[in-house]
Order: sequence, then structure tokens, then C-alpha cells
Amino acid sequence: MLIAQISDLHVAEDDNFMRRFVDANEKLGTAVAFINSMTRRPDVVIATGDLTDHGRPEQYELLKEILSQLEVRLLLIPGNHDEREPFREMAHSMGASYLPAEGPLHYVVDDLPVRLIGLDSTRDGHHDGEFDTPRLAWLDHVLGQEPERPTLLFLHHPPFETGIWWMDSIGLSGAKEFRDVVTRHPQVRRIISGHLHRPIETNWSSTVVSCCPSTTHQTQCNLDPDHQPVMAAETPALQLHWWNGEAFVSHTTPFEPSAGEINMAALMSDWPSARDRIRQGAPFEKGGALG
Ligand SMILES: [Fe+2]
Repeated sequence: MLIAQISDLHVAEDDNFMRRFVDANEKLGTAVAFINSMTRRPDVVIATGDLTDHGRPEQYELLKEILSQLEVRLLLIPGNHDEREPFREMAHSMGASYLPAEGPLHYVVDDLPVRLIGLDSTRDGHHDGEFDTPRLAWLDHVLGQEPERPTLLFLHHPPFETGIWWMDSIGLSGAKEFRDVVTRHPQVRRIISGHLHRPIETNWSSTVVSCCPSTTHQTQCNLDPDHQPVMAAETPALQLHWWNGEAFVSHTTPFEPSAGEINMAALMSDWPSARDRIRQGAPFEKGGALG
């Protein structure tokens, strides 16, 4: 099973300030084309919040236009830059029947080898997130229903301190209680999040939590507790989470064309034979199959 994660898309109108810095809409279109071009298609694409820059209905229309090009099943959750009701309306108009008609945008996807649970960590009117008592109770209940099935949780706000102080100041309240719930359910094999606009991961409870880079601008990596907030036009990326039957193996990859490529197979006179020898366990000796 293969999951592609995209995060912090920040789609906006043409006159948006951030789009003059990095064009979020164009970058997302490139990410969608990259996923469509994958010869091993993901089983599902998960978009972990901040799908638009301000949560306005017109921004969701632009988002829908771009995401409608995606040829892979799509799951959505909101982030702090989204607004829950316009988000819900847009998602339902795209056929997202998995989303509830009211309340927090939590849901369970049960038809894949790994059980997927989407969590709404947003807090109305605030950039920080929260996991309050009703949300904790809902998660504890649904995890208790399938204790033997490997499970992946996804939410926008990571439940740990990253060391980037100003992003940590808009972190997740209720993170300790959230951790207590997850600790009771060891079938949770990984938690994926966004919000940080950087690839970050840590051990957490008995699992691993990661943040996905943004498809547009990135947060400058600076762990100095006195540094000033800086967003950087660094290479945007997405993540691929491959479930090998026992564990998730996660990759971070740019989706824009690279500066150059060397196709190693094209350097060989007889690639099909070399490929077969490699697959049969031929040693990678100097002067051997890959010479
Ligand atoms: Fe964001």
C-alpha cells in the first residue's frame, strides 16, 4: 500500500501576497501532475490541511479546480488557514462523502490494508490547534473498535515541539492527552501531520510522528530560540509512505523536474539481462552488472 501526502497547499487568488513570493497554485498543479505521472500510483493521496490561504469560498473554488485534475483517490483534512464550513462545502461538492455533515471533520477509512483515521485539530479563530475532550473520546472509541488493525492517524498540527519556537507557539493544546490515548492503542503505526512546512519526525509514544513539507513555501530551518520567523522559497516536496506489510517506510521527494538525470539502464548494452541478473541476486561488483 502506498500513500502520497501533500500538505499546506495555501491556494489563493492571483493578487495574494504569498503567491508573489512562491506561486502556491502553480506548485500544487505541478504536484498533481507528478502524482498522476507515477508509474506506481499511490492508493490514496492525503492532504493534511492549510488547503487554502484564508479559507474563503473563492479560494476553495480555485483549489477544487486544481485538485479535480488528480487521478488518485483523495482524502482531505483542514488546517489553521482553512475555515471548516467552506471547507466542508467544497469537499462535499467534490464527492467527499467520508466527511461528516456537521461538527469536527473526523473520519475513518476502513477499506485499505492500513486503517486510516483523519483528525480535525483546528480551533475556530486561532492558528494554534486543539485536541479537546470530545475529540479525545471519539478517537479513543474508534481506536478501540479495531485494536488488531495497523492504523495511521493524520492531522494538521503535529503533537510535539519541533524546536522552531514561533511555530511551536501555534502548536497543539491537548497534545499530552492525545498522547495518552494513542499510548493505549499500540496499533497506531504512524502519525502524519503538516503545519510546519518542513520535513520533521520524532519518536512519540510507541509510534513515529512526522511533518510533511509544504507544496509551496517552506519554514526556514532555524533552531535558535531567538531567531526571527522566515519563510523560504526552498524546493517544495511531498511525502510517500509505503506500507510494506509490517511498517511504514517514508520518503520525501521534490515533485518539480530535477536539474538533470542519468538513466543508469541506458548506459548498459543489455539492460534486460542486467536487470534479470540483479534481481536474481548477482553481486554488485566493480565491472559487474552495473559496471
Ligand atoms: Fe501552512
